[in-house]
Amino acid sequence: MPTLFRVKPIERLLQEMEHGERRLSRTLGPVQLTSLGIGAIIGAGIFSTVGTAAAGGSAHLGAGPALVVSFIITAIACGFAALCYAEFASMVPVAGSAYTYSYATLGELVAWIIGWDLIIEYAVGNVAVAISWSGYFQELLRGLGLQWPAWLGMDYRSAMQAASAAVGADPATLSMTAQKALAAVAGAPRLADIPIVFDLPAFLIVLGVTWVLVRGISESAWFNSAMVVLKLVIIGFFILVGVFYVQPENWTPFAPNGWQGISSAAAIIFFAYIGFDAISTAAEETKNPQRDLPIGMIASLVVCTIIYILVAIVLTGLVPYRMLDTAEPLATAFSALGMNWTAGVISLGAVLASTSVLVVFQLGQPRIFFAMARDGLLPSWAARVHPKYRTPHVTTIVTGIVVASFAGIANINEVVELTNIGTLFAFVLVALGVLILRHTRPDHPRPFRTPLVPLVPLAAIASCTYLMLQLPRVTWVRFMVWLAIGLVFYFAYGYRHSALRRQARAK
Ligand code: ALA
Repeated sequence: MPTLFRVKPIERLLQEMEHGERRLSRTLGPVQLTSLGIGAIIGAGIFSTVGTAAAGGSAHLGAGPALVVSFIITAIACGFAALCYAEFASMVPVAGSAYTYSYATLGELVAWIIGWDLIIEYAVGNVAVAISWSGYFQELLRGLGLQWPAWLGMDYRSAMQAASAAVGADPATLSMTAQKALAAVAGAPRLADIPIVFDLPAFLIVLGVTWVLVRGISESAWFNSAMVVLKLVIIGFFILVGVFYVQPENWTPFAPNGWQGISSAAAIIFFAYIGFDAISTAAEETKNPQRDLPIGMIASLVVCTIIYILVAIVLTGLVPYRMLDTAEPLATAFSALGMNWTAGVISLGAVLASTSVLVVFQLGQPRIFFAMARDGLLPSWAARVHPKYRTPHVTTIVTGIVVASFAGIANINEVVELTNIGTLFAFVLVALGVLILRHTRPDHPRPFRTPLVPLVPLAAIASCTYLMLQLPRVTWVRFMVWLAIGLVFYFAYGYRHSALRRQARAK
């Protein structure tokens, strides 16, 4: 078999996991996994991107009140993908998620591509979540009467763009974002006449989460569960209070931009669903992965879909959908109705929700690097486990520093689109993997079987590709460049250092 397509036998994956100092400790059960899933899913997506999805943005049309249809479409696509993920995760319950599964099925090159692609989902996705966290954190401070310095609360590029667009405009007509950008540029200290503008809260929250994760997964799972309960309570509060203020006339016209608006919004709010698959990265730390991983993934997806549908119905009923084009639409809807304290509670909810998303993704990314390093595709120092805390501390710290730095300087909309295209691509590869493995390993035990094969995997491939096609061209270009850089890395390092390749040669 050509080296590039050599697969890593599943039996070997399991064996490797069971011995040696590079073994993680098993502490998680089904409830903790479902909570980990909900922790990863409900975050910046429902609190931030939902606004541009409903109202539209510079690069796409909004769904209007038909946002609820977008949520249902995306949930169906994710459901197909989850059924495929669950079969894989139950067969190959080893750290690394889709990366590991594809190594066992599609071969080393595809595994590398998917591992590289997952960096977009986890690390780049977390950059977006941290930026959203910072926005709501500043809202919360404002609600408490404290003013965070504008130049330390947003990224440089957004500040400069919004400030230059605002030049000459009537100050009374400026949006909140434009006002903040002007204040940031005016108040910033200068270095060689360039204003220093940096999103400090986004930077610091990522470092804080990293510190918690280096200390150990048990503690992190506990921390996550507490956050999950709190954010469910606050979303429940939004729905229960909001329902009394719904004005049904806001629901008409229902789909102002027709099918096009609905499908572009579906591709954007996909971000809100990302995370059920992150559960699979904790496979090696799960007590009974064959049973609990599928339960965790599917249960968390179902719970979140129900919540999103309710939020979409209430949100678009509260105010005319065009007013939702802000960075904090759930709070905006209540502020517009003069209910400022309710808006404050929602901001607190958003901060907590995004924190638990950050935890799960900062937990997942290092474990993918860890698995890649164990296979020799990344340098071996990345596979070290902390002698006391038993966590992959080296990769956790590296990921934390890189994500924190980008969170301080990146633009959230661009980051969300890139995250979505990368994640959808990973889902397509996973569904393809299920189809291939049914042919190449028909007899391998499958504690969870994807139903109606090949229909469900084919539906996952078709629906995820459809959503990818709704994203702007510039996102496609960025994604292709990212994959190309990954290939250069692979041929420069991974191909030569691959443990599988070295062992095959030694025989
Ligand atoms: N689904 C996660 C969020 O919305 C990524 O924050």
